[in-house]
Amino acid sequence: MRNAKSVKAKMCLSLIILSILAGVGCSSSEPAPSESTTQLTIQTMPTSEEISPETSAVVTPAPTEEPTPTPMPTPIPTPEPEYIEPTKDEVWYDGFVDPRSIRAEIVTNPDDVTVLVNKYYALPLDYVPDDLVATSHSMNQQLRAEAAEAWEQMYLDCLEETGQGIFLVSGYRDTNTQQYLFDRSVNLRSLAFACKKNAWPGRSEHQLGLALDITPAGYDNIMDDFDKTTVGQWICENGHKYGLIHRYKEEFVYETGYGIEGWHFRYVGVDLATYLYENHMSLEAYYGKQQVVPWDE
Ligand code: DAL
Ligand code: ZN
Repeated sequence: MRNAKSVKAKMCLSLIILSILAGVGCSSSEPAPSESTTQLTIQTMPTSEEISPETSAVVTPAPTEEPTPTPMPTPIPTPEPEYIEPTKDEVWYDGFVDPRSIRAEIVTNPDDVTVLVNKYYALPLDYVPDDLVATSHSMNQQLRAEAAEAWEQMYLDCLEETGQGIFLVSGYRDTNTQQYLFDRSVNLRSLAFACKKNAWPGRSEHQLGLALDITPAGYDNIMDDFDKTTVGQWICENGHKYGLIHRYKEEFVYETGYGIEGWHFRYVGVDLATYLYENHMSLEAYYGKQQVVPWDE
């Protein structure tokens, strides 16, 4: 019965189409045209019931294999940060916090040239970059290879464009040197001055081998107004093309936690340096880790 109905339905469909083409009406009571009178052959898709077992064997898709369950990704545990515990209660001097009173998180990516190191993010105390090289235009200063290459190119371009050279006063510093400089600052000036200008051992970008204290050629020490000199201005405007940022600017003082340093530049790579320069942004702001000062809380 179902086959007869199906054939009739198909024939009627054929008739409807033929009638439309010939301009003739059709009803279910009219006899179906015999094949001999049909000029057009209309192909219809066979129903599954019309497919012979032979045909069925050809077109029936092979049974799909049991889907392999997607393995659960092994979660990568987020390492618990390690900290350097403060040795005293938090204390501020004229807007600058004593680094020893801060619980500093130890960074896990010290080799990354974009890493943030400040009073709040510390290097492992025994960290020494493994690609330090001697630099030109300095007295035995070292930098990481990438930063040294940038320094040399910047030196040449600065000389060509300003007619003046530059000198690298200080590059890589180990923790002993950093301790010496902090203590000397306390002894010669004050603890308040040291907290404003000197990093505590393990919290200096100089230990990264990526910080450069720069002065004009012919001088051998840093100068407060370096960023106002011809070469200083040139570096402030062009340093990003070599991967350098002016780190401790007036507008960043409370974000970075240090006073103004016209001479201190940090290598972070050309992409990030250009982004920070164009957006007038500190490295702390880039990471959303600006220092929180008590009078803003
Ligand atoms: N003067 C900068 C903050 C340093 O000691 O790294
Ligand atoms: Zn410096």
